[in-house]
Amino acid sequence: MNPFKYGKIVEGEYFYDRKDELLRIKSTLSGGNNLVLYAPRRYGKSSLVKKVLKELKNEGFVTVYLDFMSIYSRESFIKAYTKEIAQNEPNSIEKTVKKIAKLIRGIVPSIIFNNQGIPEFSFSWIDGAEKVETLEDIIDLPEKFATNKKQWVIAFDEFQEITKLNGESFEKILRSLIQHHKNVSYLFLGSRTHLLKDMFSNKNRAFYNSAMLLNLDTINKKYSVRYLRKQFSKDDIVIPTDVAEYLISSINSIPYYIQFIAAEIWQQVINKKVEITIQHIDNAIETIVELKSDYYWELINKQTNYRKKVLIALCHSSTGLFSKEVTKKFNLGANSTTQKAISSFITEGIIEHFNDNYEFSDPIFRLFLIKNL
Ligand SMILES: Nc1ncnc2c1ncn2[C@@H]1O[C@H](COP(=O)(O)OP(=O)(O)OP(=O)(O)O)[C@@H](O)[C@H]1O
Ligand SMILES: [Mg+2]
Repeated sequence: MNPFKYGKIVEGEYFYDRKDELLRIKSTLSGGNNLVLYAPRRYGKSSLVKKVLKELKNEGFVTVYLDFMSIYSRESFIKAYTKEIAQNEPNSIEKTVKKIAKLIRGIVPSIIFNNQGIPEFSFSWIDGAEKVETLEDIIDLPEKFATNKKQWVIAFDEFQEITKLNGESFEKILRSLIQHHKNVSYLFLGSRTHLLKDMFSNKNRAFYNSAMLLNLDTINKKYSVRYLRKQFSKDDIVIPTDVAEYLISSINSIPYYIQFIAAEIWQQVINKKVEITIQHIDNAIETIVELKSDYYWELINKQTNYRKKVLIALCHSSTGLFSKEVTKKFNLGANSTTQKAISSFITEGIIEHFNDNYEFSDPIFRLFLIKNL
């Protein structure tokens, strides 16, 4: 079994560090406050939040997790959210169905049996009923179930996707109702950092100032080195500290890529009983670049020639992109034109903006560009 996991929620032996963040998030939520957790893609938000919820559940909270990535309409929200709430409500499903029938207008809840014969929550719509009423009732449902002895914690993942539903003023309805919830705390998380931050710090938005913001950073190098060494050692493979550090730096310490590259190296060395060297890491990155090259070429071919130039400049200079030197070296035009290109890269999730520099969201894409353009 490969001792490295990537692309899924990780837990148990595959999850490391995040102790401080875990405590911080737990204490904010259990104290009854709302929190926004934001970080670029693949930093480990979902895994961390799943762990938070698991621990809070063990401590007696009722927890609910909903991913807005799969929500595309008011109806799909009602469906997915009601189901999650019903399934996590600690009472028997029969009791829950009865309660929901009383509390939610516009739907008829029922119990269905899944393939394994396990009862599950389901419902049908009442023809002609006002969907806004149903929406409001369902948003208030956790507060109706919660008590000050049995508090609820709800996590909305990829919450910025709610803007897709804004034509229906969803954001406003949600905010106006949950601000009255006394026994429910909310955790909003997402990877489109600029969208999410705007939702909570722009005066004109419904959620303005309604939660504390917490930025999730990459994992401290020391812990990543320790994890790499430990996981490899399970198969008697040695990775020297400086080589592990080289791996981590080559992909900007992003947790997903650490596990991705380590998994690839493991495959290369598992039957050879050799010590891992920098060469192994370069080979693994090379292999991954190859694997993803169709996708990367497609991404590049969509760009205008000017945008390609900006991408190349970004590969070599994450700061000072607007200096005379860099502009000249990469043959860029007016700063405003470059700025426009960068803004759209940020919106599209290709580039992340940190304090005063720009980084590729996918460090492998950067390496691909350096190799090919
Ligand atoms: N604490 C951790 N310990 C070990 N690996 C981790 C940790 N956090 C994240 N990872 C690695 O990163 C991958 C992505 O994690 P996760 O899906 O939790 O991140 P995310 O920030 O929610 O990503 P996305 O932006 O794609 O939703 C995991 O599959 C795992 O390989
Ligand atoms: Mg996630």
